Amino acid sequence: MVSKETPGRAFGVDIGGTGIKGAVVDTTDGSLVTERKRIATPHPATPEAVAEVVATLVSDAGWTGEIGATFPAVIKHGIARSAANVAPAWVGNDVDKTFSAAVGSGSEVVVLNDADAAGLAEARFGAAKDVPGVVLMLTFGTGIGSALLMNGVLVPNTELGHLELDGHDAERRAAASVRDEHGMSYRKWAQRVNHYMQHVERLFTPDLFVVGGGVSKASEKWVPLLELNTKVVPAQLLNEAGIVGAAMAAVEALGE
Ligand code: BGC
Repeated sequence: MVSKETPGRAFGVDIGGTGIKGAVVDTTDGSLVTERKRIATPHPATPEAVAEVVATLVSDAGWTGEIGATFPAVIKHGIARSAANVAPAWVGNDVDKTFSAAVGSGSEVVVLNDADAAGLAEARFGAAKDVPGVVLMLTFGTGIGSALLMNGVLVPNTELGHLELDGHDAERRAAASVRDEHGMSYRKWAQRVNHYMQHVERLFTPDLFVVGGGVSKASEKWVPLLELNTKVVPAQLLNEAGIVGAAMAAVEALGE
């Protein structure tokens, strides 16, 4: 049993299209205090089914404190406001409430956008640690997620994966899933990513780009091919960024 008695600890849940992962996090140093557990994302991924998985992860860990969870959509004051890669039934759902009710025992779950959570974690403990100015994290997966940080402070829900690029939704041109679907080489895909990131660079002139998502594990295959004026570094927390960022959001929103 891991209790909330230790300050700075929270349970983080990362909700993805294939798996839902959770662990207790020490948000003072970004480490996982319990082993990361993963349960396959239910199909269909209805709010009720996903909430049940979140509750299982929390109760299996014997956790009774603050809980944070990521979600791959716009999350405004706990409510899902978009559904690019999730079932339309989520739009308008109060995800904070849905998850809190499933977990029970008066626990309040704080939900935030998945890329925002990863950005918070990278800014505090990873690739953007102590980087002043404007940092833009972009996550390449099923879609493209974005997190905009200014001196480590997050501007949530930027949704830069949905910029228009050559008449298309940008993530339908440059997400990692597009590379998989078309069996594209890293070289070919990097050209698309480069085109997309040049567009983002012109709009934001960031001080640093952090690139994340599963494909950042193979960053040496494509990051060196990018031709941008801004420095680009791969994410460092990889599988753990969402869990850590979610736990950080819980601690910061609900206090000690
Ligand atoms: C969603 C974002 C999400 C991103 C990565 C996009 O399609 O609109 O909210 O952060 O995918 O999962």
